[in-house]
Amino acid sequence: MGDALLEIKGLSTVFNTDFGVFPAIKDVNLSLKKGETLCVVGESGSGKTITSMSLMQLLPSSGKIASGEIIFQDKDLVKLNRKEMNKIRGKSISMIFQDPMSALDPVYTCGSQITEAIKIHQEVSKEEANDKAIKLLKQVGIPHPETIFHTFPHELSGGMCQRVMIAMALSCNPQLLIADEPTTALDVTVQARILDLLNRIKREFNMAILLITHDLGVVAEMADRVAVMYAGQIVEEADVMTIFKKPKHPYTKGLIKSVPPLHQKDKTLYSIPGSVPTINSMPKGCRFHPRCSFATDVCIEKEPDLRNINNLHTVKCWHINEGV
Ligand SMILES: Nc1ncnc2c1ncn2[C@@H]1O[C@H](COP(=O)(O)OP(=O)(O)OP(=O)(O)O)[C@@H](O)[C@H]1O
Ligand SMILES: [Mg+2]
Repeated sequence: MGDALLEIKGLSTVFNTDFGVFPAIKDVNLSLKKGETLCVVGESGSGKTITSMSLMQLLPSSGKIASGEIIFQDKDLVKLNRKEMNKIRGKSISMIFQDPMSALDPVYTCGSQITEAIKIHQEVSKEEANDKAIKLLKQVGIPHPETIFHTFPHELSGGMCQRVMIAMALSCNPQLLIADEPTTALDVTVQARILDLLNRIKREFNMAILLITHDLGVVAEMADRVAVMYAGQIVEEADVMTIFKKPKHPYTKGLIKSVPPLHQKDKTLYSIPGSVPTINSMPKGCRFHPRCSFATDVCIEKEPDLRNINNLHTVKCWHINEGV
């Protein structure tokens, strides 16, 4: 497996619904090296959160991993029992969420939530845990950390709460941080500061980050590599420059075309026609074909494989060699 920290192979997760059992993600392959940021990008409903929830084994009771492997530090997480997985979660792998206010517990102070996280995985005295919590608050750029230690989440702004969440996530020196839309709920300037912070701590802690977002601006700011997800499948993966400069999949091209240019006077924005199919109505063939202006008969009938353009660039499309 080379120097991969995480390798997801052929991961499929199904949901039991009123209409039957349907896959929400199918045959997902992803890998992540130490110190690398991989962005998973795609429209709402494309399966980004289900991928991260499967990885953390935090699926709701109606969902389950149907097949695949999640190799993290030579262990297959899919095969671990709840106790073994608890040890990994919050220690080697941490997660931050879109809405920090609701992820933090309103009845405990920020400080006590961080010290609790520290004490779960490390044998330290109360004083040592408190000192470490204050140091972490400082590291994530919180002014007056000794004061903030004693405040409750509702007394802080969204941006400050997200910093507290990040401090909590860092408390055990994770090797992998999963961040699901970590800045979507924040306003633009706060968003930029949180992204800067994530980039800085990634270097300081030599962590890998799996960053989930629908925002290509965030991708441009953060990613080393990008996986584009559509209808529960990865449809293109490459380094960030290739994705922006030489995208091959019509879906990736559509996403990039939907970003308004910086100095656009004319306010008409492009959007990909149609919408992401629901898990019980996946089209046959290429799942993107009903929305694709390049679709031909083969796209309607047969699902394309994820093919290598080169070692570092894969695309799931029948027409990659035709310059679409
Ligand atoms: N508990 C569930 N039961 C049934 N289907 C579900 C459940 N949770 C998610 N899904 C479906 O799985 C698909 C992928 O959802 P997911 O939440 O991963 O999308 P996403 O890419 O994270 O979207 P967003 O950008 O809106 O967060 C969607 O079609 C969604 O409706
Ligand atoms: Mg999501």
